[in-house]
Amino acid sequence: MTTLLPDPSAAGTGVSVPSFAVISGGQVADALRGREREIIALVEDTYRVHGCGDSVNPPSYFLRFPDRPTARIIALPASVGGSTRVDGIKWISSFPNNVATGVPRASAVLILNDPDTGYPFACLESSIISAVRTAGSAAAAADWLSRDRGRPRRVGFIGVGLIARYIHTYLAASGSRFDAVGVHDLDPGSAAGFCAYLAAAGEGGRVDVHDGPESLIRSSDLVVFATVAGRPHIHDPAWFDHNPLVLNVSLRDLAPEVLLTATNIVDDVEHCLKADTSPHLAEQLTGSREFLHGTLDDVMAGRVRIPADRPVVFSPFGLGVLDLAVGKFVYDHVGRSGGLQVVDDFFHEMRRH
Ligand SMILES: NC(=O)c1ccc[n+]([C@@H]2O[C@H](COP(=O)([O-])OP(=O)(O)OC[C@H]3O[C@@H](n4cnc5c(N)ncnc54)[C@H](O)[C@@H]3O)[C@@H](O)[C@H]2O)c1
Repeated sequence: MTTLLPDPSAAGTGVSVPSFAVISGGQVADALRGREREIIALVEDTYRVHGCGDSVNPPSYFLRFPDRPTARIIALPASVGGSTRVDGIKWISSFPNNVATGVPRASAVLILNDPDTGYPFACLESSIISAVRTAGSAAAAADWLSRDRGRPRRVGFIGVGLIARYIHTYLAASGSRFDAVGVHDLDPGSAAGFCAYLAAAGEGGRVDVHDGPESLIRSSDLVVFATVAGRPHIHDPAWFDHNPLVLNVSLRDLAPEVLLTATNIVDDVEHCLKADTSPHLAEQLTGSREFLHGTLDDVMAGRVRIPADRPVVFSPFGLGVLDLAVGKFVYDHVGRSGGLQVVDDFFHEMRRH
């Protein structure tokens, strides 16, 4: 923490409380730009810290509204140890109807808490942090899950909003090169916008826009789902007969029958088997968790091998510990560059009596 304020009532105890800073989206973007490989490594390290139990990551809390059934706000409280060592919470809204007016679906803040005093010490714009940790996780999964199967050369994106854009950026930054990029979205405007992004990003592969998901899936060896589908719309396991690697980022597109033909890897078993995700539906259908093969941490540690002769599906529920790790990375970077905007007198009542 920077700028420490002594607590007068705790004289002699060495206890002090941190200052409180607000970090804007512009500062977050500046801190993360060009650091994709560092973020992927940070995401992998955080999965390892979580995998060895040096974290607390309770279930996300979903706030829903009877009068706005497509909207939700999710609270992701967490605590992460390792070299990050921070507590906090992400509070992220998903309002899919925003997109029709040109406004991004998700908006978010992240609060970081000091693990010694509990005091919150920063509030960060967090839609970018959330997108970056999601894309970092996807790029890490694409790497680790293809090591025994050959690198994908034909990627296909189903649902091409902001998250798909960040995932493509992270795949490219991690060294993936594609001969072909397939694009499918129910909304032609979103497909066109994503194609314009691909051109501006210098994507060298041929870009094909598909009218439906089947031809895209059949022609891709890496398939990325980033839709806002609430229930499965992909039912036929035969579309996956060529054994692609699937990044199931939006979690609810695939019917459980598709997962039952695949090797299934998640970020966290307890988290992922909730909230009507495709793995949750597969558990309900089969009455067991045997269709799950392990976590990405298991794969990184060599405890689980990925066979080449069946599809592999990575379903990341999205862990609050990743938001904290990336948020602390941003906070430290902004602090080192002297750009912290501290709110003076934020913690004002500093005497107990
Ligand atoms: N697992 C995670 O950790 C994680 C993290 C962040 C976001 N997400 C998920 O990623 C998804 C995408 O987020 P976003 O911010 O890019 O949303 P967005 O609204 O910007 O884009 C979603 C796109 O999907 C399209 N779409 C919807 N249904 C479709 C369908 N059946 N077939 C094809 N296209 C379809 C929409 O037209 C839209 O263009 C959301 O579901 C979000 O919850 C997951």
